[in-house]
Amino acid sequence: MHEIIEQLAAQAGEALAAADSRETLAVFWQEYLSKNGKVSGLMKQLRNVAPEERPAAGKIINEFKQKLTADYEAAAERINAAELAARNAAEAVDITLPAKRRALGALHPITLVKNQIIDTFAGMGFEVFEGPEIEDDDHNFTRLNVPKNHPARDMQDTFYLAEDIVLRTHTSPGQIRVMDSKNPPIKVLVPGRVFRSDSDATHSPMFHQMEGLVVDKRITLCDLQGMLDKFVQALFGPEVKTRLRPSYFPFTEPSVEVDVSCFECGGKGCPLCKHTGWIEVLGGGIVHHNVLKNCGIDPEEYSGLAFGIGIERIAMLRYGINNIGLLFENDLRFLKQFRE
Ligand code: DAH
Repeated sequence: MHEIIEQLAAQAGEALAAADSRETLAVFWQEYLSKNGKVSGLMKQLRNVAPEERPAAGKIINEFKQKLTADYEAAAERINAAELAARNAAEAVDITLPAKRRALGALHPITLVKNQIIDTFAGMGFEVFEGPEIEDDDHNFTRLNVPKNHPARDMQDTFYLAEDIVLRTHTSPGQIRVMDSKNPPIKVLVPGRVFRSDSDATHSPMFHQMEGLVVDKRITLCDLQGMLDKFVQALFGPEVKTRLRPSYFPFTEPSVEVDVSCFECGGKGCPLCKHTGWIEVLGGGIVHHNVLKNCGIDPEEYSGLAFGIGIERIAMLRYGINNIGLLFENDLRFLKQFRE
């Protein structure tokens, strides 16, 4: 029995020393220490030992089993520690490496200006309404007091999609749609894309406008100027003011062209304002009686003010952009400058 155990101990010692992973260790356990393993096999052999020697032999086997189990546990600890060390080494992070750069987005300058305009007028109680980009002739022209064959139609180079269907040339048809769907008092902004066959350094065939419409009792040009003062001050600084000049639009009477005092030179005269001290920013006026009537609103009871802001124009002034194309080319070197 002694010999058998010694042999087995030598074998097991070698196997344990060679075990270098959980898997090989499991194989070892199966072979030596499991229920059907070689150590249990020794116990079964006790039957063949003479009865008087059995207690001593059993003791030796037990001691061997205990020793082998302890050696097995020590090997398991060694292997676990080695595996953990290997995993830690593989997963180690060098915290001194520079972080990955995240590409940050930014709002487009058109969106920035549009949001600023909406913010300012929302503070005065305006709601936002949006109309379709494909309009019928009726909404885009006729009900805005621009009848067929009227020379004012030539003011806007129109893209026709069909006989009486156009890409809207301005956001003013939004006025008609709002008045059709709502009774006064009305206070709305209509932002949107508009389209004209026109293209140079300051004109693009697609551009953006912001229409404003207020209909209530006793609305006057003073209301218009007061609101527009707030608007230009929000965009160009608290010290600027507006000036109204007489103009012509078919849908307003009287009509005005609105100038802002030059925010660059304070009105003294500089290249930006072409030495006049004033910069033209938008058109507006008092809603024409015919337009109110075309929407079933009694001009004896109500009056309205309207204005149309070119968003690109404001953005170009505000950010000193000299070519409208920059706003649509999506050159990141340009757009990144608007990251806040
Ligand atoms: N619709 C005009 C245009 O596109 C701008 C405009 C002028 C809008 C006067 C208005 C207004 O509401 O009252 O040129």
